[in-house]
Amino acid sequence: MTSLQERTHVDAAGASSVLVVDPNLDSRLDAVTAVKQAGLPLAGEAPYGAEATFLEADRAPALILVALEEPPMRGIATIEAIRRQNANAAVVVYSSSAAPELLRQAMRAGARDFLAKPLSARDVTEALAFRADGPGDDGEAPGNRERGTGTVITVAGAKGGIGKSTLAANLAVALREITSQDVALLDTDVQFGDIGVIFDVEPPHDRCVSYLGREGVTLSRDVVAESLIRHESGIDILAVLPEPNDWRVVRPEQVARLARALAETHEYVVVDTPGTINEVVAAALCEADVILLVTSLEMSSIKDTKTAVRVLGSLGVDSGRIRLVINDSTSASAITPDDVAEATGLPVATSIPHDRQLGRSVQRGVPVYLEHRGGTFPRAVADLAGSLAGVTTGSRRRRLPFLR
Ligand SMILES: Nc1ncnc2c1ncn2[C@@H]1O[C@H](COP(=O)(O)OP(=O)(O)OP(=O)(O)O)[C@@H](O)[C@H]1O
Ligand SMILES: [Mg+2]
Repeated sequence: MTSLQERTHVDAAGASSVLVVDPNLDSRLDAVTAVKQAGLPLAGEAPYGAEATFLEADRAPALILVALEEPPMRGIATIEAIRRQNANAAVVVYSSSAAPELLRQAMRAGARDFLAKPLSARDVTEALAFRADGPGDDGEAPGNRERGTGTVITVAGAKGGIGKSTLAANLAVALREITSQDVALLDTDVQFGDIGVIFDVEPPHDRCVSYLGREGVTLSRDVVAESLIRHESGIDILAVLPEPNDWRVVRPEQVARLARALAETHEYVVVDTPGTINEVVAAALCEADVILLVTSLEMSSIKDTKTAVRVLGSLGVDSGRIRLVINDSTSASAITPDDVAEATGLPVATSIPHDRQLGRSVQRGVPVYLEHRGGTFPRAVADLAGSLAGVTTGSRRRRLPFLR
C-alpha cells in the first residue's frame, strides 16, 4: 500500500471537503455552488487530467464529484487515474445523461454513485454519505454535450540547448504509449523548429505553424486536422518549417488558438517552445495546464530560471502549474537539485540524467524513447509521463513526485 492509499481521509483539511472535476466551466460552477449551498468546504476544482489527480493527492478530499458526458473517455480516464492513485477515493459522477452505457462505464471505472444534473445541495450531502443505491434517474434526456478539453503541457525554459525539444518530443511519445490516448505535439519554435528534425518529418509550407500562426489565417477544425502529421508512434505533430528570418510574423493569439484547437481533439497537447520567453511563448504558457520548466544544473541556467519564474508570475501564471525539470542532472556540477529547488522556490518534479544515446537518436530522426526504452532518459520521461497522466509506470506504486 502506498502512502496515498493509506490516507484515512479524516484529516482536518479533507474531513468533509469536496473536489469538483468538470471540464465545462458553467457546469462546474453549478456543482461548486451546490457544494457551497450544502455548507461543505471546497477542496478545489479542476478540469479532467493531471490537475484533478494532483488536487486529489494534494488536498485529500472526502468526496470527488466528476462530471461525465459523451464522449466519456477523458472523464473515465480521470476517474481511473484518481482511483489508481488512491483506491479509497470516493468518486461520484454527475451527468446530464442517464444512458445505461454511460452509467456502466462510470461504475466500472470505480464511481460509487451516479447523479443527475443539475446537482442540488442535498445531492452533495447525500453523496458525501457514500450512498451506493444505484444511478440517479430522472429521465432527463442527454443535452448540451460538450467535448472534453485536453491537458496542455508546455515545455519551456529560459535558455537554449537545455533539452526542451528532446523532452517535449519524448514526453509526447511516452504519453501516447502509456495512456493510449490522443496526443498532439505542437512546435512553437518557429525560428529553428527542432521537432521536425527529431521525428524526421517536414510539413508542407501551408500546413506548418509558421504559416498557420500568421495573422488572418483562419484556423478551422479542418485546417488544423489536415495540418497534423501522424507519426508512426501514434502522436500527431504540428510542425514548423524553420523561418530563420521571417519568424516574427507568427502571432501569439494564433498560437494560443492552435493549442486550444488541438486540446479539443487530443487528450494531451505537448507544446515545445524556443529558448527565450517571447510573446509567442507567453501565449503558450498562458494556455498551459502544466508548465514543465526545464533547467540544467549550470549556474547561469539556474539564474535564468529564477528570472523565468518571476516572468511567469508577471504573466499571471499560478506557480502551482509549474513543475521544475532538471535535465542532464548527472553532468559534472557541484549544484544539486535541492539547491535548484531552494533557489527557485519550486519543488523539483523530476531529475533527468545524462543519456549518451540521445546524440545518435537525433541523427537517425527517431526519438530515443522509441529506440532505447531502457535508457536513462526514456525511463525518466516515462515516469514523468506517468505522473502527469496519473498512471503508474513502474512495478511499484509511487508517490506523485509533484507532492510537496
Ligand atoms: N539528458 C540528456 N543527456 C544527453 N544529451 C541531452 C540530454 N538532454 C538533451 N540532450 C542533448 O542536448 C542537445 C540540446 O537539446 P534540445 O535541442 O532538446 O535543447 P533545447 O532546449 O530545445 O534547445 P533550443 O532552445 O535551442 O531549442 C541535443 O543534442 C540533445 O540530444
Ligand atoms: Mg528546442
